[in-house]
Amino acid sequence: MEIWTIKKLLDWMTGHFTDKKIDSPRLTAELLLSSVLNMQRIELYMNFDKEVEKANLEKLRDLVKRCLNNEPVQYLIGRTEFYSISLKVSPVCLIPRPETELLVERAIEFLRTRTGTQHVCDLCTGSGCIAVAIAKNFADANIIATDICDQALSVAAENVAKYNLGEKVRLLQGDLFKPVIDQLDGREFDVIISNPPYISHPELEKLEPKVKNHEPQLALNGGPEGLDIYRRIADEIGNHLKKDGLLLLEIGYLQGQAVKQILEETNLFGEIKVEKDLSNNDRIVSAIKVKE
Ligand SMILES: C[S@@+](CC[C@H](N)C(=O)[O-])C[C@H]1O[C@@H](n2cnc3c(N)ncnc32)[C@H](O)[C@@H]1O
Repeated sequence: MEIWTIKKLLDWMTGHFTDKKIDSPRLTAELLLSSVLNMQRIELYMNFDKEVEKANLEKLRDLVKRCLNNEPVQYLIGRTEFYSISLKVSPVCLIPRPETELLVERAIEFLRTRTGTQHVCDLCTGSGCIAVAIAKNFADANIIATDICDQALSVAAENVAKYNLGEKVRLLQGDLFKPVIDQLDGREFDVIISNPPYISHPELEKLEPKVKNHEPQLALNGGPEGLDIYRRIADEIGNHLKKDGLLLLEIGYLQGQAVKQILEETNLFGEIKVEKDLSNNDRIVSAIKVKE
């Protein structure tokens, strides 16, 4: 009977994934195998000649098949890295993207210019990645994170619990600000941050199969022009953001001017900035509220 060692499996998967044009073939092979063997990736290299037992070969075979069917590797292994934090993910929530780290960075920079407890609202929290990253990196944060999808919030709850952030992050289920209104005694926030669904209907059709067929529609579909949630946030922001507070929104690369205009029409903000990501695409809109 053929003997499959860790090295042999890694080499075989890497070759196979390369042939089938899977992204980052070696990394994908390492992630799948380390997940099946419950090892760190580095441990694979320390155990190159170790034989992999039959039950694990079967588990791996199933993951390889699903990977070739374009299921994102993060869902297959149930976790991802965001802002250098390991987070649980599942197909009920969007896989946090590296671009969203810039949004977190800007929030933390702003929070560090202020003193005392800072109240933050993370709308559309999904896996809770933004709330967890801010809470882990800013000691005086008091965060409310909302999502309409209670299954996504269960994932967020696991991520909050994993890092013992339950005292700093409160998760509420409901439509945008609705659960905040129900819970709060009229409190306003220092920072309101959101990475909402923002894919337009024409763009939804063109998404790569990995995203289109596996990530939740609720996390992607932003209405006909992708702007529905921005319009709703703009309508309600006056009641929830403090004067001198910061609104931070992730946007699609074609939405900078449209979202800027939506915010201008509120007459609540000073300068409204559109910032690019590392790929030189518009990615963030930020604005300080200047009116009561
Ligand atoms: C683009 S995902 C972002 C998830 C996470 N914040 C991130 O950056 O990876 C958008 C999230 O918005 C949630 N959502 C969609 N419509 C919503 C609504 N009306 N109110 C609250 N959450 C909503 C979805 O369930 C999804 O989890």
